[in-house]
Amino acid sequence: MPAAPTRTTVGIVGAGPAGLMLSHLLARADIDSVVVDNRTRAEIEATSRAGILEADNVRLLTGTGVSDRVLRDGVPHAGISLRFGGRSHRIDFEALVGEGVWLYPQTEVFVDLADARARDGADVRYGVSETQVVDLTGELPGILFTDADGRAREVRCDILVGADGSRGVCRSAVPEAARTHYFREYPYAWFGVLVEAPPSADELVYTHSERGFALISRRTDTVQRMYFQCDPGEDPADWPDERIWAELQARVSGTDGFALKEGPVVDRSVLPFRSFVCEPMRYGAMLLAGDAAHTVPPTGAKGLNLALADVRVLAEVVERAVTKRDLGLLDEYGPRALSRVWRTQHFSYWMTTMLHRAPGDTPFDVRRRIGELEGVVAPGAGSVRLAEGYTGTTAG
Ligand code: PHB
Repeated sequence: MPAAPTRTTVGIVGAGPAGLMLSHLLARADIDSVVVDNRTRAEIEATSRAGILEADNVRLLTGTGVSDRVLRDGVPHAGISLRFGGRSHRIDFEALVGEGVWLYPQTEVFVDLADARARDGADVRYGVSETQVVDLTGELPGILFTDADGRAREVRCDILVGADGSRGVCRSAVPEAARTHYFREYPYAWFGVLVEAPPSADELVYTHSERGFALISRRTDTVQRMYFQCDPGEDPADWPDERIWAELQARVSGTDGFALKEGPVVDRSVLPFRSFVCEPMRYGAMLLAGDAAHTVPPTGAKGLNLALADVRVLAEVVERAVTKRDLGLLDEYGPRALSRVWRTQHFSYWMTTMLHRAPGDTPFDVRRRIGELEGVVAPGAGSVRLAEGYTGTTAG
């Protein structure tokens, strides 16, 4: 016998940062929610994702009472280096737009949110399976699933939110005729590594070289995160440590003698790489947020930041719709969120195509790209544009 349905105001599929932050913000407005996720908490914590938080999102974590751990364990970064032609050029965000970013990996954001939701007694069900969303255009949409103990469960809600990532069930539950997909594939991917080594630079280094893109990021004093552009079909098993280091060193080498500090590679994987938007972001009583609605390529680390921006708008719109008992007000969400989504899509696309080599590039393309990079590192509007996009200060 299935258990009696749980009744809540907002049913949320996906307990990643977007789903949990939404549940947290709603609770602050006295709106109850239930969150379900197919993954266990340990599985979500094991996902390796980008590490850059815009200052607005740091304020969201600290100012709404999630946690202020980011202020202790996160590292403020006042700028980045763009490296090309064998030299580094610093982009000083603080000087250009008065604000930097924070290095604080997505996993830590998740841990803070999961702890805060547990502390506040939220109903979050991890490790469920066979999740389905039903009756999306009816009075009482629902989430059906099997709980971690194998029992069939049902949550009924007024509003349903799909925050279940790019391969989740929510977006695919929208009939194809009711959604439009906009996407761009790139002829490359990222090879990501975690290495046990000291940091090679204080700030992130985004490198464009004849061999392609490389990014030198950081995690801790002893573990670093690095990426290099590769073929999407690359097999990590073909890349022993020596080959990875030779490739990374070749891409960052230059006349200034910059070299990476090496150590054992403890994790290696090829990361998917595409730009994608699904419109509209509403179907009936279901709203999509974060990766369920859009994906950006990782250059610029906008994925999490954009998901949190969605959720800020969503919490506000849901609160108004619930208080005024008017679900028609949910229509405000998509257009407001999409304005930022498309500006951020453009920024991620721009940074990506400016820094990567594409197969089939003509000598003209190669020279033009260097011209573009020189325009961005020169004092003036180019560097301001990069700083604004990277820090998120004007994207909505
Ligand atoms: C990361 O540290 O994982 C990272 C940082 C910046 C990016 C992408 C990934 O643009």
